[in-house]
Amino acid sequence: AIRETIRPRIKEGRFVLDDLKLDTQWLKSLAMIHIVACGSAYHAGRLGRNLLESRLDIPVEVDIASEFRYRRPILTNDHLVVIISQSGETADTIAALREAKSRGVKTLAIVNVVGSTIAREADYTLYTWAGPEIAVATTKGYTTQAVALMLLTCYLAQERGQMSPEELAFAQETLLKLPEAVEKVLSDHKEVQRLAAMFFNCKDIFFIGRGIDFSLSLEGSLKLKEISYIHSEAQPAGELKHGTISLIQNGTLVIALVTGKSLREKTISNIQEVRARGAVVLAVCLEHDTDLAGVVDYTLGIPWISEELQPILAILPLQLFAYYVAALNGNDVDKPRNLAKSVTVE
Ligand code: AGP
Repeated sequence: AIRETIRPRIKEGRFVLDDLKLDTQWLKSLAMIHIVACGSAYHAGRLGRNLLESRLDIPVEVDIASEFRYRRPILTNDHLVVIISQSGETADTIAALREAKSRGVKTLAIVNVVGSTIAREADYTLYTWAGPEIAVATTKGYTTQAVALMLLTCYLAQERGQMSPEELAFAQETLLKLPEAVEKVLSDHKEVQRLAAMFFNCKDIFFIGRGIDFSLSLEGSLKLKEISYIHSEAQPAGELKHGTISLIQNGTLVIALVTGKSLREKTISNIQEVRARGAVVLAVCLEHDTDLAGVVDYTLGIPWISEELQPILAILPLQLFAYYVAALNGNDVDKPRNLAKSVTVE
């Protein structure tokens, strides 16, 4: 699915989103981007914020659609609203799109379902081309949304002259390597299966991380709770001491995301905080991070690819963990209770 998202967008060394017909002059005047979505699409949007802000050097806000539509956001015609939706039929996200359009702001949809309401009503549409996603809990929908946001970031930076030829070449090289890296991580699922068998009876599971690793924690926690029915929550690792740490007791499972290099030391100190209170810590980290292995109970290592694309590898063990825990609990992994594939009601 990721190969299909990437393939038509890199040609002769350039990022090509010409089907969007975005006016280059207008792009150069772009002053702010609002990313709006629900659930996992919102979590993917959080990854996009870091990519877009760091490359385009403009403010990027990420909003949950059911909040965006009622908070009277400040929107002007040099803003772009990026709407993300796998189904293209989520009621709150459609309403947010219509709110943005009613305010005269350009809208760009990142959608998987061709011809869906959001795809038809947005000014511009960037399809993820992931193919039909049947299971209620999205997996390839999320990862291809993250890839589409990376492609959009590189395209906008290329058109605005904000990425050098070397940076563009490196981004293309790592994107073209990504599908194979994904296949390797997915094939290496024995350790995830073993850990799921140890923890599928947990009553509470906490996910912690900083920066991008916190955004990944949100998606890991949602994946787990929606199909395993185990209570789970994600916390910014630096926020634990402001309350949530009171819930940590002997044997509580804490899944720590430690895949970003810049905040690694800070997260390690948060890991030590929870372990001192009896938590069992499973870290998702770069493979061969032996120092980290010494301060946690279990690790799930992933290969390095690049700062920007690391989250797409890091989410895979969390998707697999949720799958195996749910299956071990005898749940219907594809059709979890109380949930619909597309939330077409408010
Ligand atoms: C994802 O696993 C959930 N089923 C749910 O949060 C979903 O991401 C959300 O409802 C948004 O759906 P959409 O991408 O089709 O708009």
